[in-house]
Formats: sequence, structure tokens, C-alpha cells
Amino acid sequence: MKERLRRLRKSEAIRDLVRETRLHIDELVYPVFIVEGENQRQKMDAMPGIYRFSVDTIGEEMDEITKLGINHIMIFGVPNHKDCFASEAYSKDGIVQRAVREIKKTHPHINVITDVCMCQYTDHGHCGILTDSGVVDNDKTIEYIAKIALSHVEAGADMVAPSDMMDGRIAKIREVLNENGYQSTPIMAYSAKYASNFYGPFREAAESAPAFGDRKTYQMDPANSDEAMRECRIDIEEGADIIMVKPALSYLDIIRRARDNFNMPIAAYNVSGEYSMIKNAVLSGLMKEEVIFESVLSIKRAGANIIITYFAKDIARKLLEDMSN
Ligand code: PBG
Repeated sequence: MKERLRRLRKSEAIRDLVRETRLHIDELVYPVFIVEGENQRQKMDAMPGIYRFSVDTIGEEMDEITKLGINHIMIFGVPNHKDCFASEAYSKDGIVQRAVREIKKTHPHINVITDVCMCQYTDHGHCGILTDSGVVDNDKTIEYIAKIALSHVEAGADMVAPSDMMDGRIAKIREVLNENGYQSTPIMAYSAKYASNFYGPFREAAESAPAFGDRKTYQMDPANSDEAMRECRIDIEEGADIIMVKPALSYLDIIRRARDNFNMPIAAYNVSGEYSMIKNAVLSGLMKEEVIFESVLSIKRAGANIIITYFAKDIARKLLEDMSN
């Protein structure tokens, strides 16, 4: 028996032939941060290699990813103005709306997904409207979330991805999009989103750390797996077209359960902390660069069809290199 396993590892050609999992560029989504101002290409200490662009420089980044073969992006806005209603999030001339219009004009082939949430836009940094006692008012919040989603789609977004984790948001967004003639715009739901420490670098990048408290009342407890299945089921029933598990690397079991339980496209978000940890390990020489490919491949092997990852460009370069060898 052992001999048989070894026979299949004997040469590179045979290993290629029996390989079970392969990454493809078209299943990767590259997250993009947009800031106000002009001529911005801001470096971030927490995420080496990732920059924040202004609307006038985003085209250069789109040229670069186009050359690498990346066709899908997810946009995050970092606005200057914040208030208790997150009004910049649904403004016609908000940062995301302007960026979407610009990208769809100059790079119409790029599939633009927008993150729909309020935390970058509220002055307190929570993902919704607060009641007088300082807790998120779920039902009021979903009205706003739907309004934000609609404004993104009106600006030209190809798909919306609500990351707020409020109850009933998917049904509400679907209803509002349909009422406005956008029946064919899909929703990718952050369904199993955990209250994770791996979002640390993102909160620096998006300036969205909560001013008080945490997100544990609306994001999931890392200890729970059955609950993640309930979250996915509810989102599917409400009309989600794609369900997402987030983070990815510490939640590979959740991705696999979702894959086995639901006949749906499953996305996984390889988040900022996962990126920073591995990127820094590579930059400091602790691990070889191949660890990037290995870790992203594990997300695919666990069952994800779509991987949102800051490593998209690194992976794209490796795939191009492999092709030319
Ligand atoms: C906004 C949002 C977050 C991330 C994506 N959308 C942060 C959070 O919930 O605190 C995290 C992404 C990452 O860490 O890369 N709600």
C-alpha cells in the first residue's frame, strides 16, 4: 500500500497529475481601501504591501491587477466625515460611490463588490445606529444598511457584501434592491462572521475600531460552530446568493461544514491579521514565501469557492510564474 502512495509522488509530473486542489485567479477577490484626497498612495505599517488609494490614483492599481489577471475587487471606504447616522456611507458622492463610478468607467471589466457596513462611517465605530443606552438598534440599522447597499448599486457596484451581521439585513437589502429594479444584483452575505482579533490591522487601515465596547453582541463567538450553520441557513433563506465565512485560517472547519451542508457558493475572507502575520514572517525571513501559497490553498481545500485575500497579487504573480515555467 505504501509503495502505491510513493509511486504517485515519484516525479513532479505525476504529482501534478494527481493534485487535488488548485488555485485559480478567477476565484480570488482583492480588497481595496479608498481614502479621501488626491494623489494618495498611503502605506500601512500594519499591512506591508497594502496601500490606501484616493479616487484619482485607483486607476493605476486597477491597471496593475489587470496585468496580473485579477478581475474581482472588494471596496472599503475610509471617509473623512463620520457621524451617528453614517451619512457618508449612503451619500451619492460618498467615497465608495465615487470610487465605484470611476472604476466602472475606466476598467469596466473589473467586477466590483462593495463592503456594506457602517463602522467606518459612524463616529463611535459600531456597525449600526445606537439607541440612547448605547446598544445597536438592529431594526433601525437594517433600514440604513439597505440604503447603503442601494447607493452602491446605483453607483455601479456589481455585487454587495453586507458585513454588519444585523438580523434580517439580507431580506431587507433584497427587498430594497428589487423595488428599485436591481433584481439581478447578487448579495454576498458575511454569514458566519466571528468577533475576531484577526481584524486588528484592518481596523487601523479602515480607521474603524469601536470607540467603546466590542462587537460581541453582533459578531459570533469563536467557540461556536453549530451557530455558524444557523447563521448561514438564515441568510440563504433570506436570499443570500453567496455565503461567507470570516476569518478563514482559524475557521477552516467552519468553511468545510458550510461546504458539506449547503449547496451554495462559499466565500472565505482571509482577513488582515492573517495577512499581516504571514507577510511579516516572510519579510523577516522566518518562513519562505511559499507559505503564502500554502495557506491560501488550505482555504480552497477546506471548501471555499471564493477567497477574499490581500495576497491576491502575490498569488497571481506565482500563478503567472508557474505558467511560464
Ligand atoms: C466591517 C468589516 C471588518 C472587516 C471587513 N469588514 C472589520 C470588523 O468587523 O471589525 C475585517 C476585514 C479584515 O480584517 O481584513 N464591518
